[in-house]
Amino acid sequence: MSTDKKILILPGDGIGPEVMTQVRRVMDWFEKKHSLGFKVTEGLVGGASYDVHGVPLTDSTLAQALDADAVLFGAVGGPQYDDLPFDKKPERGLLALRKEMQLYANLRPAIVFEAMTDASALKPDVVSGLDILILRELTGGVYFGEPRGISDLPDGQRKGVNTQVYTTNEILRIAKVAFELARKRGSKVCSTEKSNVMESGLLWREEVQKLRDADYTDIDLSHMYADNCAMQLVREPKQFDVILTDNLFGDMLSDLAAACTGSLGMLPSASLGDPDAQGRRRGLYEPVHGSAPDITGQNKANPIAMILSYAMMLRYSFDLGEQADMVENAVKNVLNSGVRTPDIMGPGTAKVSTSTMGDALLRELDKS
Ligand code: IPM
Ligand code: MG
Repeated sequence: MSTDKKILILPGDGIGPEVMTQVRRVMDWFEKKHSLGFKVTEGLVGGASYDVHGVPLTDSTLAQALDADAVLFGAVGGPQYDDLPFDKKPERGLLALRKEMQLYANLRPAIVFEAMTDASALKPDVVSGLDILILRELTGGVYFGEPRGISDLPDGQRKGVNTQVYTTNEILRIAKVAFELARKRGSKVCSTEKSNVMESGLLWREEVQKLRDADYTDIDLSHMYADNCAMQLVREPKQFDVILTDNLFGDMLSDLAAACTGSLGMLPSASLGDPDAQGRRRGLYEPVHGSAPDITGQNKANPIAMILSYAMMLRYSFDLGEQADMVENAVKNVLNSGVRTPDIMGPGTAKVSTSTMGDALLRELDKS
């Protein structure tokens, strides 16, 4: 296999480094058994970078990320950074990576493993077998729209402004990804916005429908207001296949979908750009969960979302579907064996630490 596969690892803050340590063990296992030939470097991002360099992402780390075939990202943020100005906040490091690497397509699968059906707050029959994909637009909308900022008004008040903005091309390129992904699944896309209130939402709805009618008549496309979609996700999540959504609604709907599965600690994500002339697609892979300062450093965090993010990297950046399947099966088998980190404990299961969960996963890989 090619030896030129550059991976940049950015563990970040909070539980990021702890869960990344377990991924490193899985990566070492693959290197030993499958000689994947990954060239791995590690860098600082978020608060960890701010502490050393005074910024959440240095130019040189950004250059490394742009040069890498894939970035594995842990988590950023923590209460000690709450009072920093916006441009210094840990989250800016992540947002800058998304923007500069042009990772406009964020795939957030929400899957309920059979052994986890009871972990959801929803009734087992509502979530059993759930397998949906939230596709979130990641480089546009209100996260990046201009004008933005806080200004002083003549009467002594202050004004905060952010701008929700989407252009045709931004909508079409993410809709195309949604339709292509749906073709490999259940061929159903539900596009969400607030076209009853927002012009940008109306444009979104019209453009998505036009693209479907022109090029994807095999896809069953529906439209839903984002607030209704939130309600439907709790009421009957299995009605969905692919949910297409903008940046802000996608942020919220993906946390909601994560809760349907029982634990935020289980959900991976992939953020992808367009393929270049050589077919190389930039990718950043991160768990949907955050830095979880409340349990940092206690060897309690669930490393599964991070490990499943690594599996997504194998699949989407390196076309190593077989190896990705191995990782996903190892996770499934470990869950079936009743081993659980505290966040996914249930009756009759055994509570283990982050590192013991890593041990269990490696044992399963050894069997494969
Ligand atoms: C996410 C996170 C980020 C976001 C934060 C950390 C900037 O919540 O990836 O969902 O809002 O996009
Ligand atoms: Mg979020």
